[in-house]
Amino acid sequence: RAQLSDSLFIINGFAREYFTKTLFNTEEGQNIGLSYFEERGFTKETVEKFQLGYCLNTRDAFAKTAISKGYNLEYLQKLGLVTMRYEQPADNYRGRVIFPIHNQSGKILGFGARILGKADKAPKYINSPENEIYYKSRVLYGTYFARHSIDKLDECLLVEGYTDVISLHQAGVENVVASSGTSLTQDQLRLIRKYTNNLTILYDGDAAGVKAALRGLDMAVEEGLNVKVVLIPDKEDPDSYVQKIGADAFRKFIADNKQDFVLFKLQASLLDAGNDLNKKSKLVSEIAETISKINKTEGFTRQQDYIRQSAEILKIDEEGMTQLVNKFIR
Ligand code: GTP
Ligand code: MN
Ligand code: MN
Ligand code: MN
Ligand code: MN
Repeated sequence: RAQLSDSLFIINGFAREYFTKTLFNTEEGQNIGLSYFEERGFTKETVEKFQLGYCLNTRDAFAKTAISKGYNLEYLQKLGLVTMRYEQPADNYRGRVIFPIHNQSGKILGFGARILGKADKAPKYINSPENEIYYKSRVLYGTYFARHSIDKLDECLLVEGYTDVISLHQAGVENVVASSGTSLTQDQLRLIRKYTNNLTILYDGDAAGVKAALRGLDMAVEEGLNVKVVLIPDKEDPDSYVQKIGADAFRKFIADNKQDFVLFKLQASLLDAGNDLNKKSKLVSEIAETISKINKTEGFTRQQDYIRQSAEILKIDEEGMTQLVNKFIR
């Protein structure tokens, strides 16, 4: 029996191919879509590998084709490919470049569709709505392309956006997935842990990205993931930064700037506390609790390392820190 999900995957597959063909084989696709990708520094190979596409800036070129081929209008709407405008089917992604979102076996779960140029009135990205095959909280963009590399290197890099994943691949950094702008969920962590316990997050240089990502990271630490952070310089994101400084320099930058997340957070909070003794003692207690949790999953040696390093950052006695941590273990 054919399942609804099968039908949805088939329609997404058709749409993916249609948008790719539109990008490469139409004048508008070439002049607008391909030129856009070129300007962003994506090579033809990269565009092909990620199966990027373009949706013509017409009312309903895609919708008409899909419907004439017999694809169900209700399903096309469910997938976010088609919307009703003035009671007639219309293309939801018109005039946008298309980023297909693959599942772990390469089937298309949904799309991100980016506006060309500045996003003044319309949203910069339109993403597929949630439906029977696409649950945002369970998907990380890029897993299909990253999984072998993550497994091989035993490390997963986490970035914010589609274009970050794509540019890093082009620079030879392939163990990378994107949260697509949201904070990490339990399901996404589980997905990462299928491949590795080592998570390195590359923050955008802007505050918004840091904030969104931070929430999920506490959860990741508690889950026993080894979390590291790399701060990308202000006003840059991994995509813009690697395009700016080049592949080799970027890889060196990552290697040289990896910080342990727990200690990174401690330093940031300490800075924030300033001379406030109440805040400081609360902070000591909080970090002791975090360290006590690490022991459960990571073992004694790593816990000792944390005690030593955090005591050093806090300028307190190592012995005292150990006692505090032990309080939480019982
Ligand atoms: P570029 O501007 O094309 O380089 O994309 P970016 O990935 O750098 O965008 P940004 O850092 O602003 O956002 C990170 C991710 O959040 C994007 O890749 C999208 O997945 C998501 N996102 C950004 N803008 C929007 C939006 O307007 N709507 C929705 N739903 N998601 C967005
Ligand atoms: Mn592994
Ligand atoms: Mn951002
Ligand atoms: Mn960007
Ligand atoms: Mn960005």
